[in-house]
Amino acid sequence: MAGSSFGTIFRITTWGESHGKGIGVVVDGCPAGIPLTEDDIQPYLDLRKPGQNRYTTKRAEADSVEILSGTFEGRTTGTPISLLVRNTDQRSRDYGSISELYRPGHADYTFDQKYGFRDYRGGGRSSGRETIGRVAAGAIAIRLLSELGVTFTTYVSAIGPVCIDRNHMDYTRIWESDLRMPDARAEERARAWLEECLQSQDSSGGTIECIAEHVPAGLGDPAFEKLDAALAKAIMSIGAVKAVEIGDGTEVSKSRGSENNDFYLENADGIPYKSTNHSGGILGGISDGSPIRIRASFKPTPSIGQPQSMLTRDGHCVTEVIHGRHDPVIVTRAAIVVEAMAALTLADHLLLNLSSKIETVKKIYGRD
Ligand SMILES: Cc1cc2nc3c(=O)[nH]c(=O)nc-3n(C[C@H](O)[C@H](O)[C@H](O)COP(=O)(O)O)c2cc1C
Repeated sequence: MAGSSFGTIFRITTWGESHGKGIGVVVDGCPAGIPLTEDDIQPYLDLRKPGQNRYTTKRAEADSVEILSGTFEGRTTGTPISLLVRNTDQRSRDYGSISELYRPGHADYTFDQKYGFRDYRGGGRSSGRETIGRVAAGAIAIRLLSELGVTFTTYVSAIGPVCIDRNHMDYTRIWESDLRMPDARAEERARAWLEECLQSQDSSGGTIECIAEHVPAGLGDPAFEKLDAALAKAIMSIGAVKAVEIGDGTEVSKSRGSENNDFYLENADGIPYKSTNHSGGILGGISDGSPIRIRASFKPTPSIGQPQSMLTRDGHCVTEVIHGRHDPVIVTRAAIVVEAMAALTLADHLLLNLSSKIETVKKIYGRD
């Protein structure tokens, strides 16, 4: 199966299925000398793992990461870093009843059309568990970017119809909040909405925002490798993401040029700055040094407990109920996945950019 690799220099290949022996990732192209142990990666996987609240799947996985290669004495060696997470709580029997059914909203029908077979146990390769490899690799990208002072703030900005109020933001509570919301009042309303969804055996969509700060200016490209295009592809490749926006996103279509342009001004010391950041830190496909703002919209979890009309493999429609363990909402666990994909994209572009100017190349080889 092609299409499991992402990135050009900082390149990852994820592997594994939901109900196989394990899931993992190979990270190639990571510079040598970065301090890295399992303890640097595990906290990120813990933010993604199931069972963190009553709105995530009850599948009980520790998701403990093992570094198999690519480090020596606690530092990266510049060789491929192989990371493994063993699956321990597969209950494949839960899925026996859907082996001949295509569930609505899932990859079942399309996967079978493409490959002529389907691993129906927990979604196989199309499962949300595939994102374990992304998060583990993303933790390394975040570690690399932190060496240059790049930081991330990622949170859930909406669950169903409940949106955060930007006047009530408290970024310090994001990772303590099980719904990953920076607004406590919105979180309470989101909780009530999710209870309604649970009672009616339904699920909810939501949005995630990710802000990358202190990203150097100059990352990206003016044409096919535009940084905004690369970020959109990276984040759209996460299961259940249906839209990606940069900066003011779809709102710009309602705006005037005089409102949307980010004017350059000078402060009292004569230092220029951008008065606003409608562009979300990217102009002409290249980072401008201001915060990169990304928003991802997730569809409601396709697996719901209600009876639904499904398609059988031999072409008939039947009404069935899906059994198994599922997330009533995906965004709470996916926030760290969005951050990981943003970090992987920026780390790759950071390394790609080293060849953009002869001055930089000469500096690397001590000829400046
Ligand atoms: C972190 C994460 C967890 C997910 N958990 C579930 C789940 O428990 N149940 C489910 O039906 N879909 C879940 N999904 C969504 C499916 O992976 C995805 O919707 C499905 O494969 C169809 O792909 P598409 O929505 O991109 O078209 C999850 C996705 C992510 C990123």
